[in-house]
Amino acid sequence: MVEALRHLDAGFAKLPEFESQAPALDGVRPVLLEAAERLRDNYPYFHPLYAGQMLKPPHPVARAAYALATWINPNNHALDGGRASSAMEKEAVAQLAAMFGWNDCLGHLTGGGTMANLEALWVAGRLQPGKTVVASAGAHYTHQRISGVLQLPFEAISTNSTGGMDCEALEQRATKGDIGCVVATLGSTGTGSIDDLPAILQLREKFGFRVHVDAAYGGYFTLADNLTASTRAAFDCIQQADSVVIDPHKHGLQPYGCGCVMFRDQTVGRLYRHDSPYTYFSSKDLHLGEISLECSRPGASAVALWATQRLLPLAPGGEFAKGLTSSRAAALELAQRLGQDPRWVVPFAPELDIVVWAPRADSVAAASAMSQDYFDRAASRDLHLALTRLPAHYFGESYHGDEGEILCLRSVLMKPEHERWLDEIVDRLG
Ligand SMILES: Cc1ncc(COP(=O)(O)O)c(C=O)c1O
Repeated sequence: MVEALRHLDAGFAKLPEFESQAPALDGVRPVLLEAAERLRDNYPYFHPLYAGQMLKPPHPVARAAYALATWINPNNHALDGGRASSAMEKEAVAQLAAMFGWNDCLGHLTGGGTMANLEALWVAGRLQPGKTVVASAGAHYTHQRISGVLQLPFEAISTNSTGGMDCEALEQRATKGDIGCVVATLGSTGTGSIDDLPAILQLREKFGFRVHVDAAYGGYFTLADNLTASTRAAFDCIQQADSVVIDPHKHGLQPYGCGCVMFRDQTVGRLYRHDSPYTYFSSKDLHLGEISLECSRPGASAVALWATQRLLPLAPGGEFAKGLTSSRAAALELAQRLGQDPRWVVPFAPELDIVVWAPRADSVAAASAMSQDYFDRAASRDLHLALTRLPAHYFGESYHGDEGEILCLRSVLMKPEHERWLDEIVDRLG
């Protein structure tokens, strides 16, 4: 890091020396120590015994590259503020696009999955004004909220028994003829479920809606080599979707602040057209601000992603891909062990690396209370899980036909260490 910083600094050696006037440098040490003290009040997200929410430590190269870039602090809005880092962003996004089979799409990084999805739905709304956006009832809540922001009607389509979109219900709903965009989630936040993208694309032929793929969490799994045939088929046709979102700050080993939206048809860039009296002067080349809704964006994010993909290319069978395969293997193994234990009910096998399960009990209410109890007891043994509410119908007759929602245990096994830590995790589950 220090060597890289010196190298960067040497690039500006011809400038006259100057003394930094940053105020209060003497006070930095105690403030940093105080910040470190404050940060101790967190769950241990970096540790394999944190197996709860979707949290994955950034790779060391991403942390270092991010910090290195803040020395310059480029702004990827315009080439005037972030020349090198804008070029790096274009390269990194092209690599993400290539992972889905796209060679000449339009895309850029965003602050995260919400902003990336907002742009995709904004484009959909501009192309099919006033038409309805639909997503499965298991999709991220952001789609409904974003549709509200964009003043587009939104409807949820019911889910099937494995948490994916019920495509028969979608077809029935589509016959009304007012759907402008279907959001297909490849990797739902709650259960890692996969919508049947091939079926949705077939319905697009009939009904003419746009198809947006929300692969914010699941997208990188296209590199895994242990997916089920139907999940593989869904990932393999992302290429035919109109837009796709993937979050490097989830499975892409990046610090928060790194989402990505991509459009198959580059010409949607026209919808972003605007003029800025302040920027876009230093080059006739495309400034990323000309194709994104956010203005200032951290060039450091692009540098971190570029460095990570340089070290760990997005290649099937490569080191990065093995991490995804291992996360899914860990989830499959955990689901299998839980399924063999009479104390638990596992509603379905994981498609990616999220496992959901509930305690066996006489009623939905009893199972929910027990989930909370197991969750608390695991935490007292330093095993951190998550909770989620799922429709009782996912569990078939396990709760004697009770309806409503069950509070379930949930674990996202997204760390490279998780596969080896399964014994310890199962032990501490109690
Ligand atoms: C499938 C999916 N879409 C969208 C989002 C929202 O992304 P972000 O939290 O980066 O804004 C998430 C977050 O978990 C997600 O899992």
